[in-house]
Order: sequence, then C-alpha cells, then structure tokens
Amino acid sequence: MMDMTFRRHRRLRSSANMRALVRETNVDVQDLIYPMFVEEGLQGVTEIGAMPGVSHYGIDEFRREIVRISELGIPGIILFGIPAEKDDLASSAYAEQGVVQTAVRAAKQENPALIVMTDVCLCQYNPAGHCGLVRDGKIVNDASLELIAKTALSHAAAGADVVAPSDMMDGRVQAIRETLDAHELTDVAILSYAVKYSSAFYGPFREAAHSAPSFGDRKTYQMDPANVREGLREAASDVEEGADMLMVKPALSYLDVIQRVRTSFDVPVATYNVSAEYSMVKAAAAQGWIDEKSIVMEMMTSFKRAGADFILTYHAPDVARWLAETK
Ligand code: PBG
Ligand code: ZN
Repeated sequence: MMDMTFRRHRRLRSSANMRALVRETNVDVQDLIYPMFVEEGLQGVTEIGAMPGVSHYGIDEFRREIVRISELGIPGIILFGIPAEKDDLASSAYAEQGVVQTAVRAAKQENPALIVMTDVCLCQYNPAGHCGLVRDGKIVNDASLELIAKTALSHAAAGADVVAPSDMMDGRVQAIRETLDAHELTDVAILSYAVKYSSAFYGPFREAAHSAPSFGDRKTYQMDPANVREGLREAASDVEEGADMLMVKPALSYLDVIQRVRTSFDVPVATYNVSAEYSMVKAAAAQGWIDEKSIVMEMMTSFKRAGADFILTYHAPDVARWLAETK
C-alpha cells in the first residue's frame, strides 16, 4: 500500500452541484450596470463601429431600450451624452434640457426603480475634448470644479440617483457634495471614478462619445498605469471628500488595484470593464477564435473575485441573458 499523505482537492470538484456548493464568488445580474450613449437630436439608433452591439440612442429608442434592459433584470445604467453643440464652457453639460438631463427624466419615467447613474465630465461638451477647462494650453483644476459641480447638480435635479465624476480634477467630490447639499439633494450618491488610469483601453469609447482630446493627452490628470499606491491616495481623498462609492477603471489589467482598494476602504467598490476590453472580446468572438460567453463570464468572475461589488460593463445585457438561461 502506498502511503497516502497528500490532500485530495479534487473531491470538492466532483460534480456541478459540489462545485457550486464551494464556489467562493458568484456573478449575479444585480451586480451589473449598463453604460448607455444618448445622442441629442438623433432619430433611431446608430451602432458604434468599434463596439458591436453598443449603440447611440435617440431619445425614443432610448426609452424602448430602458424597457428591454429592465425586463432583463439589470438594476441600473450609467448615462453618457453626445450633445448637439460644444462650447468652451461646456454649457450643454449643465443645461436643464441637455441630453443627459432629458435622458435621466425619460429613464425614470419608463422605470422609476432603475438606478440611474450619470457620468459627470466636461470632455464631450467642449471642443478641446479635455475633462477640465483649458486655459493657455493647460487643463486648469480649480476653475473646472464649479462647472463639474454644476453638471452634477443638473443631473441630480433631473432625478439621477448617482452622479459619477470621471474628470479626475482634484477636489471635485467635495465641490459636488457641497453643491448637492446646498440644494438639499442630500439623497444623491456620489460614485467617484477615484482610481482612473490614463489608458489606451478607452480608445473605442472616445470614438463613440466624440470626446478624444484635440491636443495633448490626459496624462496630467488621469493616473499613470504603473502606480497603485497613488491610487490609494486618490481613493482616500475621495472618501474624505464625501464619495459614497469608489471606482477602479479600467478593470481587466487592474485587478490588483481593485483588490487593494477593496481591502483599504470600507465603501462599495465598482470597476469599469471599458470599451477596448469589450471590443477585443467582440472582435475575437466574431472571428470564431474564442467562446464569447465563457470568456465574458470568466472576466466578470475575476472582477468580483478581485473585490468589485459591482461592474459597469457593455456586456451587461448578454450576461443577464446568459445568467437567466442557466437558472
Ligand atoms: C470621459 C470618460 C471616458 C470613459 C468614461 N468616461 C474616456 C476617457 O477618460 O478618455 C471611458 C469608458 C470606456 O472606455 O468604456 N471622462
Ligand atoms: Zn472626461
């Protein structure tokens, strides 16, 4: 007889039920937030070239899509606007009848229970395409704060449940919280894009949102992909300033950052599975090189395992359908 001293790990993998019993991480439809692009003045929908399955919506089609994703059990959306006009002060970002403000009211009419989040930034709304105001070729911090806070206020006044600043200006969470409080919008939560890297993985989004910078890059405000301790400093500032939830963005190449943020703070942590992460999967799947469903579910599982409480992802409708099939 051999001396059996080794451990038998395979016992707990012996059947589907056994594997499910000991599974440490589960992905649920309730973990998903669907990013949506609403275009001012558009009739119908136009698919985004580099993001198959993702579209720009005119307001009527947007309403229909809200009904469809609500039926899938997706609990919330994050809204991006493509305005008809851009100007140096990004005034369409905080217009009462602006594209996001209009979409927020429409989404709430279609499904009052839907969690409506808004991306708060200036880049889609000014011709320079930077996330803050530009003066003498520089992106100025403090002068941007007032406009960012005004934008968040207008989204909240339209009925947004969560405002999510993505501009990476210092002090914006404080500016937004003070402005919301001053207008008695104390129930509106702030999801801060706290740890947002300067990433090539945003490429397809910038085409989709018409928000590529007209000069330079975003490296003076978005983070260096090499840094994680700096991300913890960013997160600490935002929690101090009043953020209710933190985001790490992108997701796939930053699982270590998700984990560090998760273990360092006690607020909910989100991650944004960004545009190029989506496009790469779609491109390979279209070629028949990968099994899309298995690849996407493995990615979603990895975000949760790293510590994300919820995931912003363009795959949300597909994931919702796949989860419903296996139930
Ligand atoms: C703009 C913004 C970006 C994304 C969300 N908000 C792009 C950027 O910062 O350049 C990226 C989303 C994606 O790539 O899916 N503030
Ligand atoms: Zn921006």
